[in-house]
Amino acid sequence: MVSSENGTLAVLGGAPVRGPEKAWPSWPQFDDAERSALLGVLESGKWFYGDRVAAFEGEWAAFQGARHCVTANSGTTALEIVLQAMGIGPGDEVIVPPFTFVATASAVLRVGARPVFADLDATWCLDPDRVAEALTPRTKAIMPVHFGGRFCDMDRLCDLAADAGIPIIEDACHAWGGHWKGKGAGTVGKCGVFSFQQSKNITAGEGGAIVTDDDALAAMCRSLTNCGRAAGMPWYHHENPGTNVRLTEFQAALLSCQLARLEEQTLRRERNAMILNNGLGAVEGLIPQPKSNRITRRAYHLFCLRVVEEAFGCTRTQFLAAANAEGWPVSAVYPLPLYEQPLFRKLGGYEGVRCPVAEDLCRRSGTWTTHEKLLGTEEDMGDIVRIAEKIKAHAAALRASGL
Ligand SMILES: Cc1ncc(COP(=O)(O)O)c(C=O)c1O
Repeated sequence: MVSSENGTLAVLGGAPVRGPEKAWPSWPQFDDAERSALLGVLESGKWFYGDRVAAFEGEWAAFQGARHCVTANSGTTALEIVLQAMGIGPGDEVIVPPFTFVATASAVLRVGARPVFADLDATWCLDPDRVAEALTPRTKAIMPVHFGGRFCDMDRLCDLAADAGIPIIEDACHAWGGHWKGKGAGTVGKCGVFSFQQSKNITAGEGGAIVTDDDALAAMCRSLTNCGRAAGMPWYHHENPGTNVRLTEFQAALLSCQLARLEEQTLRRERNAMILNNGLGAVEGLIPQPKSNRITRRAYHLFCLRVVEEAFGCTRTQFLAAANAEGWPVSAVYPLPLYEQPLFRKLGGYEGVRCPVAEDLCRRSGTWTTHEKLLGTEEDMGDIVRIAEKIKAHAAALRASGL
């Protein structure tokens, strides 16, 4: 029998490296802890914003190493609340990457300010040189995204922000449990925002959180998330133009259970990602996100990998078709940088924006593998590396196939 490594690619009719009998870990994960916690809330009759929300906020602040945590019903609303709490609004600019989920930029629009896109560097995160060029007297904040869980160069971004006298709002919606030089994600800048949506590494289906060491900012975020109320004041006392983006007790109970697993899962993902970084990084034309010794613990929401067509030997589309047929579920990244989305085309003013690094990721080279695969075994990681090596060995045949 011809081994699958040497045989024909599965996408061209050969046997796959990994058959359907080998399942990948599923997501979300839960057990009796979540079952009994949910039942406990149900039977308590107290379903709304109470002790369990407060308990989770304490746990999350401690986990990230922040003085305060204020929850919200999504990462999107948490970003909007932070911007509003900082008084950012019409006439102001916020520097954001163009390669991120839309919320990073749409939150800026929703407070009436203007997102200004700065390109990425090889990390898939904001390039500090491009940020420096984008700063104007109107810039009121820099909002880096730690893409896939990989920190931006926070030393340089913090220097730029300090020189300009503006805050950094970390969009840490992929970076739960990550550490930059020993500091938790969201605590390196002025504040950080997290998402607990279903696809995320800790989830209640939906949910979000803000962490900060700033007492006044935390108090304003608390008020804005809770109808403008103020601590210690009567229920129908409203001080600020707030909204209702509170978490429920059900969500908080789920999140506390999920958090109990997060540390172990973060370390497991990191160990497995190391196997992929070494194995895939050794294949000519495949480039994982670069490492940095300043990232003392790397969260992995996505395993991000560039397929460089010229060096690898076939297109990203061909690579993805082949990889999936071999049993490695991997996909192309966002199809467009945000400034090419209809939202920004309709707004106008973004026609001249060009971010070549982000455009290359979107159009040609970017792929991601979602985090739950990294909860698999070493053998699972070995399968991914073998698949990449097999595709590389057959890249010319794949290119010639016209797939
Ligand atoms: C980088 C980033 N920022 C913000 C968000 C928004 O979070 P949510 O989906 O909880 O609103 C997401 C969610 O996908 C995200 O990936």
